[in-house]
Amino acid sequence: MQAKVSVRRFNPDEEQPKPYDQQYDIEVEEHFTVLDALIKVREEVDGSLALRCSCRAAICGSCAMRVNGHAVLACKARVSQHLSDDGEVRVEPAGNQPVIKDLVVDLEPFWNKVRAVEPYLQPSLPEPEAEYLAPNEVMLHLVDVMGCIMCGACVSDCTVLEVDPNFLGPAALAKAYRFVADTRDEEDSKRLGLYNGYGGIWDCTRCGECVAACPKGVAPMDRIMALREKAIESGTPPGGYDGAAYGYRHAEAFEEIVSHKGRLEETMLVVKTLGMFNLPKMLGMLPVGLNAMFHRKMPSPFAPTVPGVNQIRRLAARIKMNKDGAAR
Ligand code: SF4
Ligand code: SF4
Ligand code: FES
Repeated sequence: MQAKVSVRRFNPDEEQPKPYDQQYDIEVEEHFTVLDALIKVREEVDGSLALRCSCRAAICGSCAMRVNGHAVLACKARVSQHLSDDGEVRVEPAGNQPVIKDLVVDLEPFWNKVRAVEPYLQPSLPEPEAEYLAPNEVMLHLVDVMGCIMCGACVSDCTVLEVDPNFLGPAALAKAYRFVADTRDEEDSKRLGLYNGYGGIWDCTRCGECVAACPKGVAPMDRIMALREKAIESGTPPGGYDGAAYGYRHAEAFEEIVSHKGRLEETMLVVKTLGMFNLPKMLGMLPVGLNAMFHRKMPSPFAPTVPGVNQIRRLAARIKMNKDGAAR
């Protein structure tokens, strides 16, 4: 079968380096993966093509790249399943990471973020003679998240990282969850404080792209949501009300307003989230408020309580009681 393999290339050694597309027309077998096709190009057509790979069996995580716009492991993606009607497959480097050359990206920022979540067990002393033991069910629960091969496919397709490189990102936060959920680790409070601030668990928009991209079923977004739950369950955000944990306060204020009034008051939500006396932040919201007012879209901060609000209050109290019971 003939395939047009269109590769996004970049050579930093050119006089004025800029990315460009190059197409290779090659013969591929039915079983060929995208990586097989790229290796064939490199071995038989163009030895200057740069790419990173090792195991060729979806184990090492080194061949993540974008195929037809979505991150995949090139050694797992069949060419035949990605060919367009006119026989083309488009290959680009992984997204949200600086390109070194062609399909090779710089993983330094990726690893820096993984390091930032302290990805190692922090048990309390005394040290056991053999090893720290964890209950079987805890380890079973962690099996999926421990399946992460650090390929960075989720990072490539994360929509928040596209606009805010400060975000810790799905891979690092999934790794963070792995240690918070491990009963041998004694530093949950410190960890949740660390992940609670700007760039942490509250910056995810729940777009789901990382879940779709992950080749190992880690479901990073679900891990981030689980970390949020744990941050809320732990009461006052471990980092304290230092102005950083707005996501936490947003969730808390949301619950408080709905439980009290039976409806959401968006204006009060902003005030409670940012803090009434947080002048710099409140002033920063002024243009948004004025704009809303000008367009008659400013919700009233004094909306009446909904009829039958006691039912909603009882429901909220029951949810809280169930949650507290589950947390214990
Ligand atoms: S769900 Fe969150 S972490 Fe995952 S890709 Fe979307 S924004 Fe990024
Ligand atoms: S979570 Fe999935 S996509 Fe992200 S680095 Fe780990 S294995 Fe790769
Ligand atoms: S080459 Fe190892 S995961 Fe693809």
